Amino acid sequence: MGYKALCLGLTCILCAFYIFTPIPENIEEPWKVRIMDAAIKTTSLALKDLKIFLAILVKLDYTQPISDENVTVMDTTFSDIPVRLYLPKRKRESQRPAVIFIHGGGFVLGSYKHTPLDLLNRWTANKVDAVVVGVDPRLAPEYPFPVPYEDVVSVVKYFLHDKILAKYGVDPNRICISGDSSGGALAAGLAQLIQNDPEFKNKLKAQALIYPGLQLVDVSMPSHRENEHGPLLSRKLAIKLACLYFTRDKALPQAMMKNQHMPYGSMHLFKLVNWSTFLPEKYKKNHVYTEPIIGKLNPSYSILLDSRLSPLAANDSQLRNLPLTYILTCKHDILRDDGLMYVLRLQNVGVKVSHDHMEDGIHGALSFMAAPVYLKLGIRIKDKYINWLEENL
Ligand SMILES: *[C@@H]1O[C@H](CO)[C@@H](O)[C@H](O)[C@H]1NC(C)=O
Ligand SMILES: *[C@@H]1O[C@H](CO)[C@@H](O)[C@H](O)[C@H]1NC(C)=O
Ligand SMILES: *[C@@H]1O[C@H](CO)[C@@H](O)[C@H](O)[C@H]1NC(C)=O
Repeated sequence: MGYKALCLGLTCILCAFYIFTPIPENIEEPWKVRIMDAAIKTTSLALKDLKIFLAILVKLDYTQPISDENVTVMDTTFSDIPVRLYLPKRKRESQRPAVIFIHGGGFVLGSYKHTPLDLLNRWTANKVDAVVVGVDPRLAPEYPFPVPYEDVVSVVKYFLHDKILAKYGVDPNRICISGDSSGGALAAGLAQLIQNDPEFKNKLKAQALIYPGLQLVDVSMPSHRENEHGPLLSRKLAIKLACLYFTRDKALPQAMMKNQHMPYGSMHLFKLVNWSTFLPEKYKKNHVYTEPIIGKLNPSYSILLDSRLSPLAANDSQLRNLPLTYILTCKHDILRDDGLMYVLRLQNVGVKVSHDHMEDGIHGALSFMAAPVYLKLGIRIKDKYINWLEENL
C-alpha cells in the first residue's frame, strides 16, 4: 500500500472516530478532546506497535534541562538511574522541602523530559520553594516489573541519605513523593514501602497521587464500565498497558477484559478493593457488584497478588503508617474509582487525606499543558496540586 493511501485511510478513520465518539457533556474544550481521543484511537487501531509510534511522538516533545531566573535545572543520576533536579535559586536561611515526582505513561512511556512535566516540576520548585527530583525509571516491556519499581526505590534510597539531603539543603522532615497515573501507582507503592520498612530512617511527610491507577485485582468497577471508551484512556488500552508492565502474554489482557484474570488464592484481596464497600453511594449508581472470577488462566499470574502492583489491595496495617495524602480524581476516568476508594481506605485507618475531584476531569490532562496540545483542565489540575503542596509540605 502506498504512503498516500495509508495517510488517506488513517485520516478517514480519524474523522470517523471524531464524528462518532461520544464525549461527556460537561467537558471543557470538547473539540480538542475529541481530536486527541480520535488520534489515539486511530493509532491504536492502525498501528501494530503503538508503543513505537507513541514513543516517537512523545520524544518530539522532550526538553533539555534549561535553567531559568528562578530555578537551576540539571540532569544527573542517582544510583545510576536518570533524574532531573530542580534547585530553587532563591536565598534561604532554613532547609527546603523536597518533592520526588514520578511520571505517568502506563509504565511503558514517558519521561521527566516531557515538556508539560518539566514545566510542572519547574513550577513546583519555584512556587513551593522546594527541591524537585524527576525520576526516569527504566520502562516495560523491555524492563518489566519489578524493574521500574526497583529503580524508583534505588533513587529514593539514595536521595533520602542524610548526606545527600544535606548536600541539597533539604529538610528530612518535609519530603513528599508524587506521581500521576502509573507514576501515582509507583508513588503509592513507594510510600507504603518507605513508611513500613525500618531500613528507611527518613520517612515521608506527604504523598500526592494524581489520577492514580492503584490496583489490577478488579477491573470492572463502575468507573471502568462508565468510561470504557475513554475519552483518551479506554479500558482496553489501560488493560493492554497494565499487562505489558509484566508480560507480553496476550492471554492475560484478554482474561482481564472479562475480569477473569485473578489466580486461585487471591480471594482475600477482593474485600480490600470491594467498590460496593468503599465507593461513595453517589458513584455506585445502579451498578451491580460482581466478584472477579478466579482460576480461569493457565498459566496463572501469582504476581497479581503483589501489593506493589496494587497498592489499594494492601491491608489496613500497611496503610496505617502512611503520611499526609493528596489524591486527585477525575470523573470521566476509568481509574477514578481506584483513587476514590483509596481516599476512604486511608481515612478508615486514620490517615489524613485531602481529596480534589474534577467533575469535568479526564485522564492524563497534566500531559496537555503545553503546545501543541493545551487543555485548560491540565492547568487547573496543576494549580490544585501545587497549591496543596504549598499549604501542606
Ligand atoms: C520566576 O518567579 C517569579 C515569581 O514567582 C515569576 O513571576 C516568574 O515568572 C518566574 N520566572 C520563570 C521563568 O518562571
Ligand atoms: C463486597 O461488598 C458487598 C457490600 O458491602 C458485600 O455484600 C460483598 O459480600 C462484598 N464482597 C467481597 C468479596 O468482599
Ligand atoms: C498485612 O500484609 C503484610 C504484607 O503482606 C503481612 O506481612 C501482614 O501479616 C498482613 N497483616 C494482616 C493483619 O493481615
